[in-house]
Amino acid sequence: MQKIRPTVIPEEIICAEIPAPPNGMIVFGASGDLARRKLIPSLFRIFERGLLSESFYLLGCGRKKLSDKDFRQSAIQAIREKSGDTGAKELEPFINRLYYASGDYNDPSFYEHIDSRVAELDQKHETQNRYVFYLAVPPFLYGTIVEQLGPHLHCRRRGDLRQRVRLIVEKPFGRDLQSAVELNTKIQKCFDESQIYRIDHYLGKETVQNILMFRFANAIFEPVWNRNFIDHIQITIAESIGVEHRAGYYDKAGALRDMFQNHMLGMLSLVAMEPPVSFEADSIRDEKVKLLRSIRTFDPDSLSSFMVRGQYGPGTVNGEQVAGYRQEEGVDAELRTETFVAAKVFVDNWRWKGVPFYLRTGKRLACKDTEIAITFKQVPHSMFVSAGLAEMPANVLVLQIQPEEGISLSFQAKRPGSKVCMSTLRMDFSYREVF
Ligand code: BG6
Repeated sequence: MQKIRPTVIPEEIICAEIPAPPNGMIVFGASGDLARRKLIPSLFRIFERGLLSESFYLLGCGRKKLSDKDFRQSAIQAIREKSGDTGAKELEPFINRLYYASGDYNDPSFYEHIDSRVAELDQKHETQNRYVFYLAVPPFLYGTIVEQLGPHLHCRRRGDLRQRVRLIVEKPFGRDLQSAVELNTKIQKCFDESQIYRIDHYLGKETVQNILMFRFANAIFEPVWNRNFIDHIQITIAESIGVEHRAGYYDKAGALRDMFQNHMLGMLSLVAMEPPVSFEADSIRDEKVKLLRSIRTFDPDSLSSFMVRGQYGPGTVNGEQVAGYRQEEGVDAELRTETFVAAKVFVDNWRWKGVPFYLRTGKRLACKDTEIAITFKQVPHSMFVSAGLAEMPANVLVLQIQPEEGISLSFQAKRPGSKVCMSTLRMDFSYREVF
């Protein structure tokens, strides 16, 4: 008899990565923390893998006065901090594509200057007027920059030339509903919806993207993915770092705006949404919106039964004394900014009615760990009572997002031997081992 094997689609067919078309990138806030820690090192890695076009260039813009040379030097440092001992030979082709323009975000002449540099770089790198604006600045500047981009850089270009431009906005998108609507209105005055990317970097993580594949590319999970089989779901983003040198931004945001309304709800929607019709942006967006609309709103009178907020105090990390939030540089001790939040959320729809979702995130917690734990219901009846097993632990499926990346499923199994004895075992899949 032949063993049954699943059909495996050859990797080279499904995994081929396609390089981006010629493109420039104009990064506002290029001398800041986000650009330094995340953007530039990531762009370098993409470039190394041949996924940026040969014509790629990056024009960094910021208030800090830097020459192209200074900017390149700080980019080399940022890349080395992230990627280790990267030699000059690997870095050079990327670094030579970096440029810098400094100025005041409120000053129209800054944008005139950027405009002329973009025109020059577009010619030099043959990017055919294709470029992306990336707002890596503190949120209060989004509106200012977009308002200036319109008349000075963007709206002068017409038709196809205009359509080649994209705008990327980081979070938090506004402070509340009203300010989010105002910002949207400003942006939509000069960009079409198809040009605007309101991004959440968490959704770019492999393990977060894999939630879609796990749920919708396998037939065995979806039938049990509902209130009949699932007892509760916990989504945790624990960070061991504190606010670091970002108090200026964080103090006005807090964990709710910094992590909860974006990363946590992003993961919640992927875990809980209905199957999208196709793997198209709009189709996935529609299902997420539907899910977010079904989240039960918090009643201010009973808020404390559903949500707690906290702030980290002084303590020790790896034997070293570290400051509490209020002692961190730049923190306003009068503000009660939360660095921790935990909430019990209900999704009031057919699939999830009555299933609690426990969401929590915080800084300066015991370790860095992001995971989604799905706890199934216990078996309805134990037939092993005579063996002293009246209650059976529930199966738990854990999607480990970071720093461990993987999936594990706990289940009960008989321990070998003459007695009826059981243990909870785990089936583990680890990205590190497999890929
Ligand atoms: C950012 C938050 O969006 O996400 C930071 O502003 C947080 O406060 C960071 O530290 C966590 O993301 P990652 O990918 O570094 O774990």
